[in-house]
Amino acid sequence: MPDPVLETERLILRRVGEDDVDAHDRILNTPTMMKHLGGVMERHEIEKRHAKSMALFARDGFSFLFLIEKATGELVGYCGIKWVDNEHAPNQGDHEVGWLIREDRWRRGYAEEAMRAVLDWAFGRVGARHVVALTSHPNIGSWKLMEKLGMERREDLDFVDPSYPEADSPTIQYSLTKEQWETVKCTGPA
Ligand SMILES: CC(C)(COP(=O)(O)OP(=O)(O)OC[C@H]1O[C@@H](n2cnc3c(N)ncnc32)[C@H](O)[C@@H]1OP(=O)(O)O)[C@@H](O)C(=O)NCCC(=O)NCCS
Repeated sequence: MPDPVLETERLILRRVGEDDVDAHDRILNTPTMMKHLGGVMERHEIEKRHAKSMALFARDGFSFLFLIEKATGELVGYCGIKWVDNEHAPNQGDHEVGWLIREDRWRRGYAEEAMRAVLDWAFGRVGARHVVALTSHPNIGSWKLMEKLGMERREDLDFVDPSYPEADSPTIQYSLTKEQWETVKCTGPA
């Protein structure tokens, strides 16, 4: 099993490994969880995503990570950092953060807990000056979390990705600078 990268009170965040496709497909690829993310993925799409994630970590020292619940040892989510690589985005090459929590673990504070560690990582060892997060208007839980983390709505970065259904278009963005994070992380958003 790949070594842990980050640890929080209730979670271990570890790299994705060669044997993780089945677990991802079974636990994190449900219609409910993927509703605003383009729908349930084919197995080969998960394989491709994992291969990209492993290559990214090897090259740049960051990627999306598996969230393991300390209390049970079970996979409960997937979150981390990647480069913005959507061909329609106006800000390709920015550091992008994102998250996905197993649906039977929603509203326990896991996404927020994991992302606080990921943001410290992004602005610390990874060396990002700012990060963005991408979502859509109907994905209320996701953008509420962005706001709770102190992220700022960036209408200037919104774009249309024709591969997404109309209901989840446009893709909207939030951003957070290292300085904003230093200010909000202890006090909470203004
Ligand atoms: C969005 C998601 C990651 C939230 O995970 P979670 O572990 O349930 O979130 P948390 O418990 O850490 O919630 C933190 C904050 O996010 C916001 N939030 C999370 N889910 C919410 C919901 N369903 N409705 C409104 N606000 C929500 C709230 O501000 C919450 O703080 P609060 O509990 O003090 O009100 C989860 O719903 C998910 O995986 N959704 C499907 C995948 C997805 O769309 N990912 C986003 C890609 S951009």
